[in-house]
Amino acid sequence: MPILAPSILSADFSELRNQIKLVESGGADWIHCDIMDGHFVPNITFGPLIVKKVKEITSLPVDTHLMISNPDLYLEAFIKAGSDYLTVHQEAVIHLDRTLSHIRELGAKAGVSLNPSTPVSSIADVIDKIDLLLIMSVNPGFGGQSFIKNSLKKIKQAVELRSALNADFIIEVDGGMNKLTIKEALDSGCQAFVAGSSVFGAKDIAASAAELKNIIR
Ligand code: DX5
Ligand code: ZN
Repeated sequence: MPILAPSILSADFSELRNQIKLVESGGADWIHCDIMDGHFVPNITFGPLIVKKVKEITSLPVDTHLMISNPDLYLEAFIKAGSDYLTVHQEAVIHLDRTLSHIRELGAKAGVSLNPSTPVSSIADVIDKIDLLLIMSVNPGFGGQSFIKNSLKKIKQAVELRSALNADFIIEVDGGMNKLTIKEALDSGCQAFVAGSSVFGAKDIAASAAELKNIIR
């Protein structure tokens, strides 16, 4: 069953509870939390405190995407805050094998994210430690950017690698999702879809979530 994961990056934080309820009513499956530190990416968002609030607001799985340097220092804090999936960037971690094991030991599902310039083959040797592979379809840091078409090729490569190595993980795409690109990502073999501005930037948030959900359903 394909997964719609609206990113609260583009939500109105003064109305967070209400906005999360709107995407829930539109059929959201996960809530995606984008964590930025101003080092790994040129933007700063929020930390575990807000993730904890999200967890209190929703019973949907919380999908936390760490766009931060030295994520190892914060795994425990984000898992304690209620992250069900915790994703680190391959480019931000030195000992990825250890980091992924640590995430699982702490009780969360382990995710790895790849920047547009990082090849899918780079995670081949840790494939059995991955529950989620997050393919960035924009350069991380900001909502509202356009989809990088090469990501479709990477989704297909991830599907191939998964079956060649008999692995079992969810392939998620993040960035520039709209009615057209979500269909292309679906057709390329993707299972989970992050959408920020196309959902929270819409006039009718619930309806725009429902529209995307209908396409992937
Ligand atoms: C980008 C974030 C995304 C972002 C997507 O760095 O990782 O999750 O919220 O936003 P849109 O859907 O607007 O591209
Ligand atoms: Zn994200």
